[in-house]
Amino acid sequence: MQKEKFLKEYLVERKGTYSLKWDALDKRFGNADLTSMWVADMEIKAPKEVIEALKERCEHGVFGYSYVSDEYYNSVINWLKEKHNYEIKKEWLRFTNGVVTAIYCFVNIFTKVDDAILILTPVYYPFHNAVKDNNRKLITCDLKNTDGYFTIDYDEVEKKIVENNVKLFIQCSPHNPAGRVWKEEELAKILEICKKHNVLVISDEIHQDITMKGYKHIPSAIVANGKYADNLITVSAASKTFNLAGLIHSNIIISNAELRKKYDEEIKKINQTEISILGMLATQVAYEKGSEWLENVKEIIEDNFNYLKTELNKHIPEITITNLEGTYLVFLDLRKIIPIDKVKEFIQDKCNLAIDFGEWFGASFKGFIRINLATDPEIVKKAVENIITEYKKLK
Ligand SMILES: Cc1ncc(COP(=O)(O)O)c(C=O)c1O
Repeated sequence: MQKEKFLKEYLVERKGTYSLKWDALDKRFGNADLTSMWVADMEIKAPKEVIEALKERCEHGVFGYSYVSDEYYNSVINWLKEKHNYEIKKEWLRFTNGVVTAIYCFVNIFTKVDDAILILTPVYYPFHNAVKDNNRKLITCDLKNTDGYFTIDYDEVEKKIVENNVKLFIQCSPHNPAGRVWKEEELAKILEICKKHNVLVISDEIHQDITMKGYKHIPSAIVANGKYADNLITVSAASKTFNLAGLIHSNIIISNAELRKKYDEEIKKINQTEISILGMLATQVAYEKGSEWLENVKEIIEDNFNYLKTELNKHIPEITITNLEGTYLVFLDLRKIIPIDKVKEFIQDKCNLAIDFGEWFGASFKGFIRINLATDPEIVKKAVENIITEYKKLK
């Protein structure tokens, strides 16, 4: 669909809908009037086919217990095969009411109190919390940052794994907020290190479908023809891709029978909840009918990124902009334009923006900000203009 037409059909005002992003600004940032570009959901309605299916279900009027249908399984299996060349079996799939919840469960099931767990920082802050909240030892390893291009420091990773006797690695692929879509050789190297030292890998691939032109997500389970599949668990969802996060439904893929047995034995002690019918249905229909919508949304994200990059490069070349290979979250390094302890004042009080601060993702990243680009291009324009105007006033 033509971009303007798509925007007209799908952009929507979210204030007054109990939106965490728009209606909880006061609570989170102390100012209800900020332009919100933080938490990772979109101002774009889900595909109309999904909305229709949900409407039909709502009109039926009964929201009783449900089971997971064959249609659902097929939609997930087909999506992973067609989009990601990843062939899974029905019996490998498990379900969770959110990827973060799944990660918390994995930490409990596959490690013990005081065990060491590795994450590559900067990374999505619930990864940190899942480790700390469960009294495990958090081992962070900063990605190497070369002018905003983040790569893995393999030597450092291996050193930390050995020194701390790491048991679990929580991987983010594609990486939020570094914007990287990891190449197969990068994945192979880190997965090899984990295998060598018996470190189980949780691969959070929730951003799998949001990749920019020229980049392709490779599921960790198919790296090196599946060499590492037995040593990992994958979590993914349609929630980030199709803006369905509030329906809290995600997929867990465990191909290794022993890991699956362990997961099943332990999870039954803490979770006996049936699946959410609306979450399951929305996921199924999105996977069956959402491809065209997704292409439109990716174009909007990429255009928003190119606009932001061009304008900021032109007016404030001192800001280092991380290239957006995947996700819809761009990471900016403001350290050359502003002292790190003044970033909050600048971005929030002067530019009037609610964004994610770099230090949320790792201690070394104070001075960075993360901006959500899955939104109205007018919002991106306003944000960029505010940053440029307020920067000029600083000088
Ligand atoms: C890497 C990553 N994992 C998980 C989530 C959230 O997943 P869920 O809402 O299913 O808990 C996000 C949301 O931004 C994310 O970026």
